[in-house]
Amino acid sequence: MSSDTTPLHFDTKPNTNPMPEADRLKAFENLGFGTLFSDHMAVVRWSADKGWHSAEITARAPFPIDPASSVLHYAQEIFEGMKAYRAADGRAVLFRPEENARRFNESARRMAMPELPEADFLAAVEKLVRIDAKWIPQGEGSLYLRPFMFACENFLGVRPSKEYIFCVIASPVGPYFKGGAKPVKIWLSEQYTRAAPGGTGAAKCGGNYAASLIAQKEASAQGCDQVVFLDAAEHRWVEELGGMNVFFVMDDGTLVTPPLNGTILPGITRKSLIDLAREQGMTVKEELYSFEQWQADVKSGKLKEAFACGTAAVVAAIGAVKFPAGEFQIANGETGETTTKLRQALIGIQRGQTNDSHGWLHEIAGV
Ligand code: PLP
Ligand code: COI
Repeated sequence: MSSDTTPLHFDTKPNTNPMPEADRLKAFENLGFGTLFSDHMAVVRWSADKGWHSAEITARAPFPIDPASSVLHYAQEIFEGMKAYRAADGRAVLFRPEENARRFNESARRMAMPELPEADFLAAVEKLVRIDAKWIPQGEGSLYLRPFMFACENFLGVRPSKEYIFCVIASPVGPYFKGGAKPVKIWLSEQYTRAAPGGTGAAKCGGNYAASLIAQKEASAQGCDQVVFLDAAEHRWVEELGGMNVFFVMDDGTLVTPPLNGTILPGITRKSLIDLAREQGMTVKEELYSFEQWQADVKSGKLKEAFACGTAAVVAAIGAVKFPAGEFQIANGETGETTTKLRQALIGIQRGQTNDSHGWLHEIAGV
């Protein structure tokens, strides 16, 4: 069991049938996103009577799941996304993992799920990275970590489950978008919204993504990489992409990004870029920005660049926007100067190539 003062003890049962090294290295030659998985996983269980218990690091394997398991019916599920990098000096590092631990618990509260003490969240992630350290790709790749929690009580009544599983899996990844670092094309969803005031938009719960898939499907059918959502009340204000926050770069160097009003995810990349931009002397405004204004600013030349950001995608320039009534380009479909500068500043810190003056890197000692 664990409380805020008693850390969980993780039993370690190494995988007796890990992927052969030659196969792993072959798979590393062509990394995409989220299709290859490491040898182990971290698992912790929760029940109303025992609290958090049975923590282990074990071979990655399926969970037996009862057809009445509550997550299958009412979608009580949350997750996080974070990355381990092999830094320039050989250290294995995580980027601001305590922010993920905190946000995980904010999501848990919103979804009426038990909170996992931040130290236990971090221990699960660290122990998994340590045992699967050889799965951190060298060079431009990284080891994407996916902590998640789901309800697993076998019960069909509608109330919070009395049993949960917390798990962390790891996936070596390359670029999120097929085109690599090329600017992305996004589809503006007019028909579908992602989150409404009072809803779960600020929580990282699977249901938000389920609700976004039809719009993402529409985006793909329109030849676009991602979808950008407007607010649910007025269908006017730009909120975020299906899996990324969004920034606009104005001709006077000002950055504009939608405010955290409860309907968008408080991105850790977003927060880091705001700090980096301000340190570089830029003005950053967290304020509402309408699609109408966006189009007008592109037309007048006031808007110079736009980019999407998140753990998986890092910083991706938005080269074009398509919507039911038309289409426009941004920065001639190229990656603009400010986008490049901020991207490099962030990646430089994440990969230990530049001074980490904020203390954002968390080293995993001894691997
Ligand atoms: N918005 C959504 C909907 C996301 O899924 C993500 C990705 O996690 C983000 C924004 C960016 O968040 P972060 O920078 O913490 O990865
Ligand atoms: C992440 O960036 O970690 C996410 O969870 C976004 C998802 C679309 C992969």
